[in-house]
Amino acid sequence: MRTEPSGRASHGVPVREALDSALVALRGARVASPRLDAEVLLAHALGITRTQLFLDADRPVTGPAAHAFRDAVRRRTVLREPVAYITGTKGFRRLDLDVDRRVLIPRPETEHLVEAALTLPQGARVVDVGTGSGAVALALKDERPDLEVHATDTSEDALHVAYANARRLNLDITFHHGDLLARIPEVDAVLSNPPYVEAGARLAPEITQHEPADALYAGADGLDVVRRLIPAAAAVNARFVALEVGEGQPPAVRALAPEGWATDVHADLAGIDRVVLLWRR
Ligand SMILES: C[S@@+](CC[C@H](N)C(=O)[O-])C[C@H]1O[C@@H](n2cnc3c(N)ncnc32)[C@H](O)[C@@H]1O
Repeated sequence: MRTEPSGRASHGVPVREALDSALVALRGARVASPRLDAEVLLAHALGITRTQLFLDADRPVTGPAAHAFRDAVRRRTVLREPVAYITGTKGFRRLDLDVDRRVLIPRPETEHLVEAALTLPQGARVVDVGTGSGAVALALKDERPDLEVHATDTSEDALHVAYANARRLNLDITFHHGDLLARIPEVDAVLSNPPYVEAGARLAPEITQHEPADALYAGADGLDVVRRLIPAAAAVNARFVALEVGEGQPPAVRALAPEGWATDVHADLAGIDRVVLLWRR
């Protein structure tokens, strides 16, 4: 039996029962990964890791943790809020990033963009265009501290989140507010996970109701930003460009390569062609 701060005795339910009842609610709401969501939300409410949940499955969930968990499950099932906005954090490569509704939640497939840049020459000047939470720029600087990393975004809100992540993680990034390369005069490489969703595409409510629309949509074919970005990168002397793109978009993006540039495509872990590479021959 545990005693709540009010002095009232509270038995609570054990971790395994709390998980089971959340699973029923999450399955009923047809969320995509109910078990994982229940575990992440309960671990977060208790302030422990998911592994600790299983090592301590009889531990009672009481008081503020029980209240926080109930509220988290309600937000996930009724409001369809993504787990990362509820917990306020998302893992990306070696980093834990703070995220909220001002930024797109970094996706696992975007980690391939960082991989594509790991072989850049020593000291290269790199720009992450549309940095959002700062995910790509921060992970790259973390793994290649010798690079000079810049990051841009049209959203001041997003830049506040990215800047706060950079400060907390003690990673030296130069942020710029503005369109595409935001007047950065010269760069060696451009990385971007730009908005690439076609107008009118059907997306999950987690995305359409909670993530910033400016981070998602890019015109009728989803290529409005990419179409301007590739020539803009060439104009500031970039020798290498890596772009995350949507399913089926690589042929159209490769066709945008300037004269004298070569292209290649890398698939993500699901086997979907995801990153288009373009480089000056
Ligand atoms: C798909 S999100 C990517 C966020 C982050 N890089 C990631 O991978 O998680 C696209 C980002 O580009 C920004 N953006 C949209 N149009 C832009 C433009 N023309 N120039 C610069 N940034 C832009 C959005 O505000 C958003 O933060």
